[in-house]
Amino acid sequence: MLSSVLSLSLFGGAFAARLFLNEPDIGFDEFFNLADGELASLDDLVGLPDFDAAARRYMPIRNYTYYRNGAAGEWSYRNNLEVFNRYPIRPRTMIDITNIEASLPTTILGHNFSVPFFIAPCARAGFGNIEGEKGLVEAAAAENILYIPSLYATLSTAEIADLKKKDQVTFQQFYLDSDEAATQEVFDDAKANGHQAIVFTIDSPADGNRQRAVRYGVGPE
Ligand SMILES: Cc1cc2nc3c(=O)[nH]c(=O)nc-3n(C[C@H](O)[C@H](O)[C@H](O)COP(=O)(O)O)c2cc1C
Repeated sequence: MLSSVLSLSLFGGAFAARLFLNEPDIGFDEFFNLADGELASLDDLVGLPDFDAAARRYMPIRNYTYYRNGAAGEWSYRNNLEVFNRYPIRPRTMIDITNIEASLPTTILGHNFSVPFFIAPCARAGFGNIEGEKGLVEAAAAENILYIPSLYATLSTAEIADLKKKDQVTFQQFYLDSDEAATQEVFDDAKANGHQAIVFTIDSPADGNRQRAVRYGVGPE
């Protein structure tokens, strides 16, 4: 009896999973009414979630899937997004915000940047744009934001170096290779191509089991 009560309550828990919305419903579909493969106008995108919705309508499914996938059944992926949304913002009023923009510039490893965040390493920009990382390097230079190219960028380190503006600061991301010589080569390459620092990714000790990505042959390297 106890076991059947227990299994009933476990099933109850499983069925209680809520529908996951990839983006908040803020009227994207009604406004754009896009056909498959149609690109929303950049000027009409009003917030970050719009970029995901626009990419999903526009990009070939294989390319979109390369960027939009998580481990296994994507339970952690969804949970991570949901828990972030549960952070409440405490409104503060009647405080001086006249100089708030002046508080944004910062230094990272001694280099000056316009904002305290950076463009994180994301492999294979070529899935999103035939020019690969070009737009990212140039936008980072235009806004004085740190760009950290991935070890698995579509463009080579030398091609990225060629796109850099004079004095533009970039850090090179790398994964540790069990072959020491291969890692040394990455360091030498980064130095020769003028990256000012290297960034070591520590959360990727093995390839993930990304089931959505495997369907389209765009799983981990
Ligand atoms: C499609 C994709 C490719 C990524 N490629 C890399 C990579 O090559 N190297 C790396 O260190 N991190 C990589 N990341 C991780 C990101 O740099 C970043 O840490 C992660 O996406 C968390 O930031 P977010 O919450 O803003 O997405 C990748 C992430 C995505 C979604």
